[in-house]
Amino acid sequence: MRRILVVNGPNLNLLGKREPHIYGTKSLADLTKMIRAKARELKIEVSFFQSNHDGELIDFIQKEGPGSLGIIINPGALSHYSLALFDCLQAVAVTTVEVHLSNIHAREEFRSTSVTARAARGVITGLGFSGYLLALEYLTEQ
Ligand code: DQA
Repeated sequence: MRRILVVNGPNLNLLGKREPHIYGTKSLADLTKMIRAKARELKIEVSFFQSNHDGELIDFIQKEGPGSLGIIINPGALSHYSLALFDCLQAVAVTTVEVHLSNIHAREEFRSTSVTARAARGVITGLGFSGYLLALEYLTEQ
């Protein structure tokens, strides 16, 4: 079956508890549940991975990326500086959509640059959980 990877970076395991005025009150488990339901509707398989360590994210993407149809990634703060993660996404060369829950352009200056976004087909920022669902729809259509 066609499979899409959903990858979340540092601190996204704290969703629901972490700055709820910015990231909302729902947890990563709630997000996973929502994506699974959408994936069932779209008849697509999804695999989830979250880590607070860039090396672990890179190992996962190197291993699972090549066999997949696409990657949905919220690299968290790694978006702003991880050239290693950028290189990994470039190397794997699988269609990638970068997602941010908050609007990174409407916050602190340092958040408005994403080095990983250069490796993405597109970026969805500021639409909360809906961003992941829209990315899933897009990748399924490809
Ligand atoms: C984030 C935005 C990043 O700037 C931040 O470091 C995160 C979450 C978002 O989803 O809005 O951890 O990627």
